[in-house]
Amino acid sequence: MLEQDRNERLMQVGPETPMGKLMRRYWHPIAAASEFEDIETKPVRLMGEDLVLYKDRSDTYGLVDRHCPHRRADLSYGFVEDCGLRCNYHGWLFDEKGDCIHQPYEDTIDPESKLRGQVKVKAYKVQELAGLLFAYMGPEPAPLVPNWEPFTWKNGFVRIVFTEVPCNWFQCQENSIDPVHFEWMHDNWSIRLGGKTGPYTPKHLKVDFKEFEYGYSYHRVKEDTDENNPLWTVGRNCLWPNMLFTGEHFEYRVPIDDETTLSVGWFFNRVPKEKEPFEQKSIPSWVSPVKDEETGRWITSHVMNQDFVAWVGQGEQADRTQEHLGRSDKGVAMIRKQFFDDMEAIERGEDPMATIRDEKLNECIELPIIGKEVFVNGMTTEEIVNGDGQLSNVMKRFAFQVGQPDHIKQAFEDATGIKQED
Ligand code: FES
Ligand SMILES: [Fe+2]
Repeated sequence: MLEQDRNERLMQVGPETPMGKLMRRYWHPIAAASEFEDIETKPVRLMGEDLVLYKDRSDTYGLVDRHCPHRRADLSYGFVEDCGLRCNYHGWLFDEKGDCIHQPYEDTIDPESKLRGQVKVKAYKVQELAGLLFAYMGPEPAPLVPNWEPFTWKNGFVRIVFTEVPCNWFQCQENSIDPVHFEWMHDNWSIRLGGKTGPYTPKHLKVDFKEFEYGYSYHRVKEDTDENNPLWTVGRNCLWPNMLFTGEHFEYRVPIDDETTLSVGWFFNRVPKEKEPFEQKSIPSWVSPVKDEETGRWITSHVMNQDFVAWVGQGEQADRTQEHLGRSDKGVAMIRKQFFDDMEAIERGEDPMATIRDEKLNECIELPIIGKEVFVNGMTTEEIVNGDGQLSNVMKRFAFQVGQPDHIKQAFEDATGIKQED
């Protein structure tokens, strides 16, 4: 249980809030680079701020205020030039630093006008990595965008999936340090959704949680595994500040505002050995729904969709004054404490957890990864098709999120030679 004011401190991400200041110390993914093959601008809401992401004709990305500082027109309807984004109302032009670099009428009638130097649009840094576009809204000097080890793997087919989940980001992230929910929310519930009443999956017998440099890991022993199993020895990662990493995919829980979260999934599949070398020209993305439009109920058919049911079920903002934590929630308590500690650390002028500033380290940040040898060495088609381990299974079915477009399924099949089930 948490007092109301501490609960609010965990959830609120506006610019002046303690958590808002902390979350602004990290880079957050807001779009896929490949989206800009078809569009020039994209409206984005991030931590309660309305912004526009654009790519200009020199391929520079910018992230600026949604509203033009002239008379407040919507810059997501602006158009890009060789440098910058031009407002479609009176043509003022802004670069990625937020400087106004052209005011067509003012510059014509008074080239010496000081007005241009006086107007600036709010602007944030954008950087591309692993097919994602990351934004940084915090103070300078900005840390590096973490270059996690899987971002450096070769011969991969990667997919990016976005979903707007209508609840606060922190309850989504608490799910990243929650081993026991797998047994019930995924395994057993799926058995019941499939119309069977059992047998249920092996029970958790023991869980443990550990802090490491880039977050926390969780470890489990179930009835069918022991302490030699990598689920206990290696575990899985709740990465800082708002990610889950399970080995072959990352899930980011990006705060859109205090009541909405952008779930960003980055999924890696290594192509079979016979298909190497493989280089993916463009990393595709899609927007996956949360609600079944016909029934008005949440979609339950896919793994992450099941997670979303839990998150939104806790309410728009989970009321932690009403909860009762048990022993399985030790990790939840640990990450809450870490966030409170980090909020204090930045007030003292220190960097919070997992701030990466070392260029050398950032060439490839190694993580504890179950089945790493498979990602590094690959598998043959036969090993994939006949295998039944997690890494074979993720090749045979895209079980994470609903609604994969046909052209992406086809691209996966072209790359891997494997026809994937939905
Ligand atoms: S409102 Fe943008 S140029 Fe006038
Ligand atoms: Fe889950």
